[in-house]
Amino acid sequence: MKILLLGKNGQVGWELQRSLAPLGELVALDRAGDADRRLCGDLQDLDGLRSTVHALQPDVIVNAAAHTAVDRAESEPELARRLNAEAPSVLAEAARATGAWLVHYSTDYVFDGSGTEPWREDATTGPLNVYGRTKLEGEHAIARACPRHLVLRTSWVYAARGGNFARTMLRLAAEREQLTVIDDQLGAPTGAELIADVTAHAIRQLRQRPQDAGIYHLAATGATSWHGYARFVLDAARALRPDMKLAVRDLAAVPSSAFPTPARRPHNSRLDSRRLQDVFGLRLPPWQEGVMRMLTEIL
Ligand SMILES: NC(=O)c1ccc[n+]([C@@H]2O[C@H](COP(=O)([O-])OP(=O)(O)OC[C@H]3O[C@@H](n4cnc5c(N)ncnc54)[C@H](OP(=O)(O)O)[C@@H]3O)[C@@H](O)[C@H]2O)c1
Repeated sequence: MKILLLGKNGQVGWELQRSLAPLGELVALDRAGDADRRLCGDLQDLDGLRSTVHALQPDVIVNAAAHTAVDRAESEPELARRLNAEAPSVLAEAARATGAWLVHYSTDYVFDGSGTEPWREDATTGPLNVYGRTKLEGEHAIARACPRHLVLRTSWVYAARGGNFARTMLRLAAEREQLTVIDDQLGAPTGAELIADVTAHAIRQLRQRPQDAGIYHLAATGATSWHGYARFVLDAARALRPDMKLAVRDLAAVPSSAFPTPARRPHNSRLDSRRLQDVFGLRLPPWQEGVMRMLTEIL
């Protein structure tokens, strides 16, 4: 099996380099591509993407690249649309033309965040911001152009590598006596490792059972607020590293309105991942397991 991976250095892309490697020949690109082989990995270059798929003839394309800067997307909607909607559309057309599978990631931000129930795949969408709207447009384009697709909607992604929410909380907790964190957005922190492992498993199954193509929710189980997530991180840090100096005495819970941002964010980001677990015979762990593992690595 030949796999083309785009966005190899993102949180999910990095872990996919590991999880996809045993499946076959992996051609992993970042936006610089591979000049020697004349392969394009830049999502802005639609012609380059098309010719790369046609030249390489992969069995599977995994697109982990995206415009993920949610606030910045508000001021650069055309770029967000190019990366999150037009590029996936071109990849889907090229996949269809060459008989490849297309695996792509989307987001809880396609929903408006109302209610308290976890969102199922067929729930009505209603994105609140440019990022969510462009990601939804990408989903639709893929579903239209390429029946052999797997779109995994995930949420609150973190990885041990690079910056993440836990690292930010730990840094601030070392510097300040009081921290204020939002408590009216709820979701499940989901590890890039988990997403990558599930992706590899799903690709193997889809090659045997193409009828399982479609859109699925993929998030760790359970839910918390950013405030609950921060509290978990600080409690875990105290347990794992009793020697660590934390200045913080008070972790205050505040509403989203306390931190105005260019992009509105959904309050209810809970995703119901039962369909993925049933169809692919998987068990998704509670969010605390993955976060604890990540903290053990970074502390
Ligand atoms: N992060 C989350 O909380 C979250 C939540 C729900 C869904 N998702 C979805 O999950 C997927 C993976 O997200 P992630 O967290 O791994 O994102 P990430 O860490 O921000 O990685 C995105 C990658 O896309 C690359 N990229 C940006 N512009 C590009 C371009 N023009 N051409 C090629 N590559 C480009 C970035 O490269 P540079 O580093 O060079 O910019 C980066 O490696 C995305 O589809 C995202 O929408 C993420």
